[in-house]
Amino acid sequence: MSALPETREAGFVPMTPERLDAVMAVESVAYPHPWTRGNFEDSLRAGYHGQLLLAGEALVGYYVAMKGVDEVHLLNITVAPDLQGQGWGRALLDALAVWSRLQGAQWLWLEVRVSNEPAQRLYERYGFRRVGLRKGYYPAGAGRREDAIVMSFQL
Ligand SMILES: CC(C)(COP(=O)(O)OP(=O)(O)OC[C@H]1O[C@@H](n2cnc3c(N)ncnc32)[C@H](O)[C@@H]1OP(=O)(O)O)[C@@H](O)C(=O)NCCC(=O)NCCS
Repeated sequence: MSALPETREAGFVPMTPERLDAVMAVESVAYPHPWTRGNFEDSLRAGYHGQLLLAGEALVGYYVAMKGVDEVHLLNITVAPDLQGQGWGRALLDALAVWSRLQGAQWLWLEVRVSNEPAQRLYERYGFRRVGLRKGYYPAGAGRREDAIVMSFQL
């Protein structure tokens, strides 16, 4: 485990263009197929809800979500690789669930790669249920595609 800075200044702050350098530093090492900076910029321009969890200057993790009619669609959730497996992913989902409830949403939705077992485990332990499969939803390199499992959680 890598130590977090000793600080009382910990909590959530909005994802803004100025904070995307820190986001990209984590994103680019957390995924085989990371989002581009443009993906984050487009999400912010579209008014999606993005939050960073900071401990002092250290970025613990972040998420991006899109509000629908009675559901919130989780588009990206990431914990810094050296801080994974310590409950931070669950903490990010808790924050997203609070925000979603305040929006009046009744459901959280997400897609996850069939190969991403740690993420599926996080969601299942949290209470998400598998509700479908999207064939060839994700790029998988060398022109291949990977299926997505669709999961939902009743708030
Ligand atoms: C998926 C991710 C967000 C989980 O965050 P995390 O902080 O590591 O997860 P937590 O520590 O909160 O773990 C929550 C649960 O998932 C399980 N889990 C987390 N990482 C795991 C791993 N590598 N292997 C197996 N189980 C794992 C834990 O056992 C835990 O279950 P428990 O509460 O019963 O012990 C994080 O691994 C990550 O950022 N991965 C790379 C990006 C990614 O794949 N994002 C999801 C895209 S859909």
